[in-house]
Amino acid sequence: MQISPATMKNIDHAANLILKGGLVAFPTETVYGIGAIASNKNAINRIYSIKGRPKKNPLIVHIHSIDQVSTIVKCDDNKISIIMEKFWPGPLTLVMEYKSSSLIHANARANLNTIAVRIPSNPIAMRLLKKVNRPIIAPSANTSEHLSPTKANHVNQDLGDKLNNQTDMILDGGNCKIGIESTVLDVTKNQVKVLRPGGFNIIKIKRYIKNIKSDHIENNNKPSSPGQFKKHYSPRASLRLNAQKPLNNEAWLGFGPDKIDLNCKFKMNLSKSGNLNEAARNLFSMLRSLDKKNIDTIAIKSIPNRGIGLAINDRLIRGASK
Ligand code: TXA
Ligand code: MG
Repeated sequence: MQISPATMKNIDHAANLILKGGLVAFPTETVYGIGAIASNKNAINRIYSIKGRPKKNPLIVHIHSIDQVSTIVKCDDNKISIIMEKFWPGPLTLVMEYKSSSLIHANARANLNTIAVRIPSNPIAMRLLKKVNRPIIAPSANTSEHLSPTKANHVNQDLGDKLNNQTDMILDGGNCKIGIESTVLDVTKNQVKVLRPGGFNIIKIKRYIKNIKSDHIENNNKPSSPGQFKKHYSPRASLRLNAQKPLNNEAWLGFGPDKIDLNCKFKMNLSKSGNLNEAARNLFSMLRSLDKKNIDTIAIKSIPNRGIGLAINDRLIRGASK
């Protein structure tokens, strides 16, 4: 599939393709998404089919303005409105109660009575959303269970064969700034829950909502978010986590200064200076590169479990699970 630079002209063309029922891959600040108009059943079914995604795993709806929220969900909780005002656009997805008059197709919601909503901050995504001016459904633009895409080329590697140059488009907006998916928060009940740790640090909202429960990694067998099954974000190679050094024939993915002598053939470093934001930005891309080397195991240095490190470790634990 041809990759198109995200010029104004191409973004506007992409908007027309989406309105006609096509699929468009576009960058967000987190990862690339594959978007379709939220009311179009065929386009939504195609998204599930090209990703190989189970139909019971619902998709996120993307909008450009808080004014659109009330057309999609019921939300009369003042503290949630404050959170939207303060932290959107940004890498934060809110699961809310679905409004039956909204035009989001049931298949996009996996027939649930809740729906996940976000306003992305990437200017290309924003222009596309404004041009289309209707909600866009967009999961990450990768094959289901594989590593998420942070470059246009990753999208092409996973989905290129299943897209059509006439009806669909891949917009290239360079590398994603955050590199890890949005934080998903369920705000449908009094007890707010983190369904997926991600690019948004929930410490920022603890002023507004005191008691937030983590409901991801520990509840893997009975996840409240359909997407939080244990195996996910998986490369072909096995991952060996919290490694001190690579063993024979392993590839190495470091973090922080490489103090030991690394005499392995394939080695990369998420962030030599030990910067967690840099590590998040590099994570999926470096795992994809090492995975191409045809090795059995990638050994990975331990990553501090704080800030965006929580999201990195969540992805690594799922990626290591077979
Ligand atoms: O950063 C992101 O969120 C990216 C970009 C493209 O926006 N999108 C993304 O979408 O990661 P996806 O489909 O790969 O992940 C959506 C997650 C899944 O874990 C899904 O189960 C969860 O959100 N989700 C969606 N709707 C839900 C709902 N109604 N209740 C609970 N979880 C929901
Ligand atoms: Mg995904």
